[in-house]
Amino acid sequence: RAHPVYLHHQHTDFNSLQELPESYTWKQQDHEQYPSSKDSFSLQETVPVIDLMDPNAPKLVGHACKTWGVFQVINHGIPTSLLHEIEWAGKTLFSLPPQQKHRAARSPDGVSGYGVARISSFFPKLMWSEGFTVVGSPLDHFRKLWPQDYSEYCDIVVEYEKEMKMLAGRLLWLMLDALGISKDDIKWAGPKGDFKGATAPLQMNSYPICPDPDRAMGLAAHTDSTLLTILYQNSISGLQVHREGKGWLTVPPVQGGFVINVGDLLHILSNGLYPTVLHRVITNRTKPRFSVAYLYGPPSNVTISPLSKLVSPTQPPLYRPVTWNEYLGTKAKHFNEALSSVRLCV
Ligand code: SIN
Ligand code: FE2
Repeated sequence: RAHPVYLHHQHTDFNSLQELPESYTWKQQDHEQYPSSKDSFSLQETVPVIDLMDPNAPKLVGHACKTWGVFQVINHGIPTSLLHEIEWAGKTLFSLPPQQKHRAARSPDGVSGYGVARISSFFPKLMWSEGFTVVGSPLDHFRKLWPQDYSEYCDIVVEYEKEMKMLAGRLLWLMLDALGISKDDIKWAGPKGDFKGATAPLQMNSYPICPDPDRAMGLAAHTDSTLLTILYQNSISGLQVHREGKGWLTVPPVQGGFVINVGDLLHILSNGLYPTVLHRVITNRTKPRFSVAYLYGPPSNVTISPLSKLVSPTQPPLYRPVTWNEYLGTKAKHFNEALSSVRLCV
């Protein structure tokens, strides 16, 4: 959708702005997600941090999914050096001159490339962030940014995606195990249970320092349309999750850790037992923030519906079957009402 706001944003050079432009200034009356409604409750609770080497990890993962829909993991086996490398590659990319980044601009209807968050068209104001999405081979994307010298960046992304894919499969089994689901219950898991055909865009996000954080939004509130999301946030906080009836809670960065979100499709698969988590990103005045989200979903030809083991006469299926693509289409139309729009009337 060619959106004038979208095109305008493409040419924003954040670092040159001393004041928050009107188009980025969120007003309380514009939206219920006004940024300065910061952490609105005390630190009585905190997003669970789970050590994957802990023998209790499977139980803790199940509990966190049921009660939070989000948790952090440490001791996940992915080398810290790779996290530093992806952060270096991403930061290098975002610090290129605007004209160079625009060579790899995402088309208005496309998924991959450089641009604003895809959820932007649902909000009255712009977001104080830039994104870069890689789908499939990074080569095609990076050649546009660095015509000569892209191979180093490609190698890092390929390696990162390989590690993410393994971790995502491992986490998904921990999550499903906790619901009593085994390999035989999911046909698309493949004979070895390795979710071979799973697909996953890699989304890098940059949140430049902001002249007026109380009135700007880094990324507006949304749920992920994935099965699960693996998020690396660097040492700068900004991510907040919504707690029903309580408000927004910051997810403090844990060194070398990942934030794991339950997405809408896992919510459907679990017949509502695992809640998808509403989250957003706020900005700050002094430190640029960087994150990478691995958006893990099913193979494109697979239909997701509540698992039959989780359905009974007393627990009827809550959602109708959808493919990932179909669901994304629904999300593009209904955004935060997407889940209710595939809900069955029970
Ligand atoms: C996202 O929700 O996709 C990004 C979150 C973050 O930057 O922490
Ligand atoms: Fe997200």
